[in-house]
Amino acid sequence: MKKTIYLCVLTLLTAVSAWSFQSEITAFFQLEGDKLIMPDPDEYRRWELAGVGVVPNDLNRHRAIFPGVHLVYVDPVAYKHRRDRGFYPDGTVIVMENFHQKSQEGVSGKGYFESGPRDVLVSVKDRRKFTSKVWSYYLFTDKDIKKGINKKAAMPKSDCQACHISAADDDEVFTSCYPRLSPGKTKAKPIK
Ligand code: HEC
Repeated sequence: MKKTIYLCVLTLLTAVSAWSFQSEITAFFQLEGDKLIMPDPDEYRRWELAGVGVVPNDLNRHRAIFPGVHLVYVDPVAYKHRRDRGFYPDGTVIVMENFHQKSQEGVSGKGYFESGPRDVLVSVKDRRKFTSKVWSYYLFTDKDIKKGINKKAAMPKSDCQACHISAADDDEVFTSCYPRLSPGKTKAKPIK
């Protein structure tokens, strides 16, 4: 009898610790109602840096959608999944931090440098939560961040997701822009 009780307690403890481990590794985003709480920069800057891009306004006739320096972070669990198994799992969170840029000539030469403000763009994949659309997109502009707004509802499909569905190469993600996740593959044309 004692042995049975001991075994039951042991099974229960194993189940509880497995559950807490599971919830720990997948909790890279937090929703409050229909709003996403902006991921904490101190956290996501420790995730995997998948790629860096510079989209200067002056190369785009001042019409780029998000001109600036793009740093793309993928949560570590999703990063490992995509790299080792080839897909983004439910719970994936990707943050694109867009630093506004200014061009200047300095000691290191002519170049583009961070000018201060930044926007935070987030995509979250979760087929259980976002049943009809799989991925949800959130935008925290430099103005939101300045005002301390740290919760936002998902953006309308036409503002973000439509472009990702039609133009991205891999499950709505522009994986080919991220060399560490797709070495040697890119669809983008070099500028002559
Ligand atoms: C016209 C097309 C277009 C629109 C509209 C668009 N994006 Fe993107 N997005 C891109 C491209 C291209 C990239 C590749 C990386 C880069 O440009 O640095 C990207 C990258 C991203 C990334 C990094 C992960 C990935 O999917 O590659 C996130 C997050 C993101 N966008 C969120 C958003 C959000 C939020 C909005 C709406 C406010 C939005 N995007 C609107 C084209 C678009």
